[in-house]
Amino acid sequence: MHACRVLVERLKSLKFCQRLRSMRSIMSFTEVKRKRGKPITLIWLINNMIFLPVFMSLVGGNLSILHPGESLRESIKRHEHFLALQLGLKPGQKVLDVGCGIGGPLREISRFSSTSVIGLNNNEYQISRGKELNHITGVDKKCDFVKADFMKMPFPDNSFDAVYAIEATCHAPDAYGCYKEIFRVLKPGQHFAAYEWCMTDAFDPNNEEHQKIKAEIEIGDGLPDIRSTTKCLEALQQAGFEIIWEKDLAVGSPVPWYFPLDTSTVSLSSFRLTSVGRLFTRTLVKALEYVGLAPEGSLRVQMFLEKAADGLVDGGKKEIFTPMYFFLVRKPDSSSH
Ligand SMILES: C[S@@+](CC[C@H](N)C(=O)[O-])C[C@H]1O[C@@H](n2cnc3c(N)ncnc32)[C@H](O)[C@@H]1O
Repeated sequence: MHACRVLVERLKSLKFCQRLRSMRSIMSFTEVKRKRGKPITLIWLINNMIFLPVFMSLVGGNLSILHPGESLRESIKRHEHFLALQLGLKPGQKVLDVGCGIGGPLREISRFSSTSVIGLNNNEYQISRGKELNHITGVDKKCDFVKADFMKMPFPDNSFDAVYAIEATCHAPDAYGCYKEIFRVLKPGQHFAAYEWCMTDAFDPNNEEHQKIKAEIEIGDGLPDIRSTTKCLEALQQAGFEIIWEKDLAVGSPVPWYFPLDTSTVSLSSFRLTSVGRLFTRTLVKALEYVGLAPEGSLRVQMFLEKAADGLVDGGKKEIFTPMYFFLVRKPDSSSH
């Protein structure tokens, strides 16, 4: 277990891996390139035809509710718009995105709601990519990034009109500490909403198979102990929030959220994710790494993410894990910090 954690840390430190950690944002990056009409280079092809789809599918850029007939891009955007609508964002408001990656949701939500979004992230590389993308997409006048730890934010009390977090606060070593910081920087009477990665009530800590699946997700995605939905709620209340509503959105999802990651499904459109497709991709990545077109460590990252993806699928199938425990909470009017 320790060896795996060391490997996770090493992978996290790879620039290449860092770049892959926000898959939605990478998707925006490729959209931008096409829109600007740049020539299609070999690197562009490798990024778009191999790494982007595989990694996007493997590490969670697609962990949104899926509807039949809807593309992955559409579903991710809908997931982000849903959050903005739940927060009741209004033009001109100042919003905080906690653990923003390279800002895919930040740009989408800012454009959707005409708000100014500040992205908080502790990763220098992601912030520099995010700034470039904000500039290219023209949202840099309204949005910016701040490099900091979400356990200790460099903002005064009562600074933001709304706060959201997408698949990020699960990285907090202590949920209460993180939510308390969010509570502090949020203005009284305003809302915080998030999609959390959680273990559900069906998770049995005494069941070895459940434990194995949980460990695969934690190791593969570099997470601390994944909290239960109940623990998240308790931490929110303890931090001072009123719960407006909460739900595991995976329950009753028209198409299971893990469907695109599931190697047992046969789909021409997601051939790369089938067992044969993965083998094909692995061989290709290995060859590209060998000739120096892909950065060193690419194959290792690929294998690692495949394992994480398997954990996610198993967790989803057994309904012991959800990547979309949604909650909308409010800081009471009377509270100040
Ligand atoms: C899975 S990514 C999600 C990114 C983004 N929210 C999205 O949906 O595209 C998790 C993000 O949380 C950031 N993160 C993890 N721990 C953090 C911390 N202690 N302080 C600030 N950001 C953190 C990581 O750098 C990463 O960008």
